[in-house]
Amino acid sequence: MITVIGSLNMDLVTTVDRFPKLGETLLGNTFQTNFGGKGANQAVAASRLGGKVQMVGCVGEDAFGRDYLSYLKKEGIIIDYVEPVTGTSTGTASIFIVEGDNSIVIVPGANFELTPRKMEALEEVIASSDVLLLQLEIPMETVNKALQIAAKHQVTTILNPAPFQPIPKDWWDWITYITPNEHEAAAMMDDDSFLDQYKEKMIITNGKNGLLYFEDGKEIQIPAPTVNAVDTTGAGDTFNGALAFFLTEGYSKKEACRLAVYAASLSVTKFGAQSGMPTKEQLDAFIESDII
Ligand code: RIB
Ligand code: NA
Repeated sequence: MITVIGSLNMDLVTTVDRFPKLGETLLGNTFQTNFGGKGANQAVAASRLGGKVQMVGCVGEDAFGRDYLSYLKKEGIIIDYVEPVTGTSTGTASIFIVEGDNSIVIVPGANFELTPRKMEALEEVIASSDVLLLQLEIPMETVNKALQIAAKHQVTTILNPAPFQPIPKDWWDWITYITPNEHEAAAMMDDDSFLDQYKEKMIITNGKNGLLYFEDGKEIQIPAPTVNAVDTTGAGDTFNGALAFFLTEGYSKKEACRLAVYAASLSVTKFGAQSGMPTKEQLDAFIESDII
């Protein structure tokens, strides 16, 4: 069982020819509401590939929250631990896309109602997971508690440190894998308290250049296939969800990374964070066509 503890956002996506100036009103081109949020994106990525996935999070008692829950259920994700909370809205991400580049405003809303106390109540759920997957769109104290519980029960953890915040020193011993992008990784390694041994826990993603990690002091690089990128929103999430899935299935780190890079590459060929996330069959077909 893969357990994802994290955010659920409704992505409000507008495409426009240029970003508006302060005080300016512009005509946009298209508008879509897409299911998003790093936590739920990663849950969907793992589930599409065939993983058994349960989501832990909070939504508001509003239309976005209700829609999100029925959608996750249809995707086959266990939603017993997604709690609708009152007095706040479902998380939103307002996204402007200008020729493939984006700017995003996130309102966490219900995502910030996921408290450390709720993690304590879910100790059994965490302890019985094969892999625990976390990001940083929920309170840091909650991630702290979840990682601590996971470490106590020797559960494999993947922390995707996005959006970036400095990693508390304690966490390094609790984390099995940490998946920063190249900028996040550079910021971590600049930290005075960073120890060289932690480098081996890092899997550093590098967009269309694939990824790298360190093993026995050596740098291992895995390239990405060339694709026609339409929308890179959620590419990192696809990578993390797929990585969790393939590790749970018993693949080696190297093979899990290679397959997850392929999944992420395929995901950017469709618009929206989740619509391009492949099934196992789609991924296999893509890999075969890329190799030929
Ligand atoms: O990683 C992509 C996600 O980040 C989007 O779906 C959006 O919700 C933002 O949180
Ligand atoms: Na996409």
